[in-house]
Amino acid sequence: MKDVKKAIIPVAGLGTRFLPATKSMPKEMLTIVDRPVVQYAVDEAFEAGIEHIVFVTGRNKATIEDYFDIQPELVSTLSQSGKMEQLASLQRLLPRAGSMSFTRQQSPLGLGHAVWCARDIIGDDPFALLLPDMVTFGKRGCMAGMVELYERTGGNLIAVEQCDPSDTNKYGIVAKGRDIGKGFEITGMVEKPAPAVAPSTYYINGRYILQPEVFDILEKQERGAGNEIQLTDAMLHLSNAQDFFAYPFEGRTFDCGSKEGFIEANVAFALARADIRDRVFEPLRDIILSHEPTTEAA
Ligand code: G1P
Repeated sequence: MKDVKKAIIPVAGLGTRFLPATKSMPKEMLTIVDRPVVQYAVDEAFEAGIEHIVFVTGRNKATIEDYFDIQPELVSTLSQSGKMEQLASLQRLLPRAGSMSFTRQQSPLGLGHAVWCARDIIGDDPFALLLPDMVTFGKRGCMAGMVELYERTGGNLIAVEQCDPSDTNKYGIVAKGRDIGKGFEITGMVEKPAPAVAPSTYYINGRYILQPEVFDILEKQERGAGNEIQLTDAMLHLSNAQDFFAYPFEGRTFDCGSKEGFIEANVAFALARADIRDRVFEPLRDIILSHEPTTEAA
C-alpha cells in the first residue's frame, strides 16, 4: 500500500458569499486571527506527513502563490529593524522549496472538476484532499488522524461530523455501515439531500483520502447536483469497486465559506492562542453579554 504524500487544495472558488471583500482578494486569503484561511489547511496537511501540495487555482488567485514564496524586501526590513521573532515565525511558515505546485481550473465546473484538474501532478498515487473553507479545529489535526486510520484500512477515507438534521441540504451526507474501530464503513453517499431523504446526519467535512482511480471517473465529466461535476457522485461510483470508510472527526469544523462560520472560527482560534486569549476573552464576553437582552427580545 502506498503512503499518502500528496494533497490537493482547491482554491478556485469565487467567494461570492464574502462580497465585497472578495472583489479584489481571494476568499482563501481572508484572515483567521493573523493567518490566511488557506494557511490552516496547509499546516494540517504538513502535520499529517504530506510532502507536496497541489493548489487548483483560478484567475485572480495569484496572491496565494505569492503568499507561499519568500518576500525578500520584508525579510531585509524585518532583519534590519531587529524584528527577529517575526522573521523567525515567517520563516517557520515558509514551505520547502519545490513542495507546492499550482495548476488552474479554467472554468468553475464544480469540485469534481477542480480535483480532476490536478490529475497529472498527482499521477498514480493516493492523495489527500482538503477544502480550505472548512477549517478544522481540534487537539489533533483531522488529516493526521485520517492518515493513521488509512494506514490500517487502505481504500478511501472521508472525514465526517454530525450536523443538525435540518442542515443536510448544505453538505455531502454518507450512509453508515458497520463500525471498524475508529471509523465505519460507508454504504452510500448523496450530495446535499433534503432532510427527509438524507441517509444520516453524518456530513462530509471537507477532508478526504482518495485513490487515483477517482480521476478515471471524473474524466467522464458527468454533471450532477447544481449542474456541476460533483466529487460525491464520482466517489459513489468508485465505491462499487473500492472500499470507502468514514473517519468521525472528534474536533469541530468551521465553515469559513459562510460569514457565521468565519466569525466563530476567529473567536475560537483567538481563544485557543496563548498569546491572545487573555487580551480578548473579557472584551468578547462583555460584547456578547451586553447583547443578550436584544437576543431574548427577538
Ligand atoms: C463540497 C462537497 C460536499 C461537502 C462540502 C464541505 O460542497 O461537495 O460534499 O460536504 O464541500 O464543505 P460545497 O461546499 O463545495 O458546495
